Formats: sequence, C-alpha cells, structure tokens
Amino acid sequence: MKALVLSGGTGTRLRPFSYSMPKQLIPIANKPVLEHVLDNIRAIGVTEVGIIVGEREPEIRAVLGDGADLGLHLTYLRQDAPRGLAHCVQVARDFLGDDDFVMYLGDNMLPQGVAEAAERFRRVRPAAQVVVQRVADPRAFGVAEVGPEGRVERLVEKPEEPRTDLALIGVYFFTPAIHEATDAIGPSGRGELEITDAVQWLVARGADVRAEEYTGYWKDTGRVEDVLECNRELLDHLVRSVEGTVDEESVLIGPVVVAPGARIVRSFIEGPAIVGADSLVADSRIGPHTAIGRDVRLRGTHIDYSIALDGASVSGVHAVHGSVIGRSAAVSSGDNGIRKHRLVVGDHTEIEVAA
Ligand code: TTP
Repeated sequence: MKALVLSGGTGTRLRPFSYSMPKQLIPIANKPVLEHVLDNIRAIGVTEVGIIVGEREPEIRAVLGDGADLGLHLTYLRQDAPRGLAHCVQVARDFLGDDDFVMYLGDNMLPQGVAEAAERFRRVRPAAQVVVQRVADPRAFGVAEVGPEGRVERLVEKPEEPRTDLALIGVYFFTPAIHEATDAIGPSGRGELEITDAVQWLVARGADVRAEEYTGYWKDTGRVEDVLECNRELLDHLVRSVEGTVDEESVLIGPVVVAPGARIVRSFIEGPAIVGADSLVADSRIGPHTAIGRDVRLRGTHIDYSIALDGASVSGVHAVHGSVIGRSAAVSSGDNGIRKHRLVVGDHTEIEVAA
C-alpha cells in the first residue's frame, strides 16, 4: 500500500499564517501538522508516500526533505492549482500505479492513529473505504448514509439537509477502482473535482464501499481556533522532560517540557506546556496548554492557552490568552509616551485588545 498526502490548497481560513507558510507546517505541540500525519502513515506500515504540493513546495521540501529522517520515501507531486481532492488523485496517477493507497489530508490530526481503519481495509478490501465521525452539524462535510456492515449507500457533499450525522473526515482508503471514478466525474458547483463525488460514483455503480467510524479525537486544523484546541489536546498527553536550564527561582508544575538549550529564569510554568530549544523565558508566567517554539524570547509576560512560533518575542504583556504569535513576530508593551496601542498589523490578522 502507498500513501497520498494532500499538502497543497490555499489555506484561506488560516490567514495570516498561510501567507507566509503552508498551513500544513503550523506546529501543534511544537511539531508541524504534516509530521504528525506522516507519523501515522509510517505507523500503519506504509513508507512510499506521495505528497501533493502547490506553490509552497519549496518550504515543505525544506522541512521534510526526502523523508529519510522520518523513515519514509517521499515523492513530491506538483498540483498546478487547488482543483479539488479528486484532482489530487489524478495528479498522482503515475505515482500510485496499480497499488492500493491511503489518502490523507495534510491538515488533519488524528492523534490516536488510523491503525484500526487500515487493518479493516486490508482485511475486507472493499473498492473504497471512507472514515467517518459523528458531528453535531454535518452540513459543512461530505455526509455518508450507511447500511449494514458499514456499507455506504450514498454520499452527499455538504448537504443542506443531511440524512445522517456521519461526516467524512480526512482519511480515505482506495483500491485502483478510484481512478476510473475520478476520471468520470465533472467539477462541482464550486468548480472542484470532489472526492465525495468520485466515491459516490463508485457507490452508484454497485461497488463495495465501506465506512469505518472513528471515535477517537479528530481535528481539521483549518482555522486558528482548531489549531489551539488541537494543541491543547496533544499537550494533555505530554510527559515531563527538562533538558534545558531552570534557575532556582523558577517553579515548574505538572508536565512541562524544557527543550535543550532553553533557559527558564525567575519564572513560573504550569503544565502542560513546552518551551522549545534555545528559547528564553524570564520573569514570566506560562499557563497551561501553551507551546513555545525555538528561539523565542518571553520577558515579563503571562501567557496561557497559546502558541508562539519560532523566533517570536513577547515582552511586558500580561494575560496573553488564546493567541498564536507568528514566526519572529514581536509583541511588547512599552511607554510610548502617549498611552496608546501601536499596531503594525498585516492583512487578515486578528487582534483583540483588552478594553
Ligand atoms: P481544504 O482545507 O479543504 O482546502 P484549502 O487548503 O484550500 O483551505 P481553505 O478552505 O482554508 O482555503 O483542503 C484539505 C487539504 O487538502 C489541505 O491539506 C489542502 C489539501 N488540498 C490539496 O492539496 N489540493 C486541493 O486541490 C485541495 C482543494 C486541497
């Protein structure tokens, strides 16, 4: 079996971060989403991985290389524009050959892995197997109508009146039967080749299509709120490890990771929290569910339920909450003489200041 990881797309919902980095590289618990995805793929014994990339290819290559560090062999497959998930399968046609494959959205997090779904696909080997989860409002998803033994009777993309609450999540298992389907369908109303339509094409022709219900934690990290929530979930399983230096005036409570080269000075950290390599935390308080990247500077700051990316600095700012601070971004309080906020804010950035 091979894997096809989708890491193109536009990432509109993750602006402003997606202006400067592919959204699949946003760190969750200090590791890019895409690496979490690839870990799950390796865990089901798949090492031949095709990665669909768009114009962000160079940044993704710079982080993953040929995949050897992850125990994988990666092939980069360039998609000219985000023309839909079924278009990605077409782009990967030569790479996939006649092999079965798992298709995995590069921005989806399933921290408990997909071993059960993979095992069932390998054992039953239907033409296709989708992975579904019950959601409160299925209207934003592909929705499955499922009969006995998990047989899919119908799939509908973003129905106005969903007939079930079973939403398709970002992992699909396919035999080569999918190729005829992706070639047969036309673009949807939004102009994309939808994978839901391709799988429904198989269903309509009587193919054996199954749904595997996934009850573990799942998050599409498409929006900032989702990134923070997913970070919280992963940090909840953190194991304490202190390799950097912590001075005698500092206190660490609960699961805290202090990476090599990081320095904690006169500070209080309540886990779960991570401080990345070579970062400095001085006279600060880090609350739970916070991930601080590499080379970050925190001075005189209180921060919780937040993520600071590599090279960021925050000084003299209290009560930072629910925040994501971009790479090398600087946030500070200062006496600028006029007691006013001074903001240099990029496009589609969100700032909420205390009243
Ligand atoms: P989406 O999150 O649905 O699409 P997007 O990246 O365009 O995001 P937004 O809605 O915020 O603009 O895509 C799911 C995953 O599939 C994501 O990792 C991007 C990838 N993808 C491709 O690689 N090619 C495509 O043509 C599309 C539509 C998505």
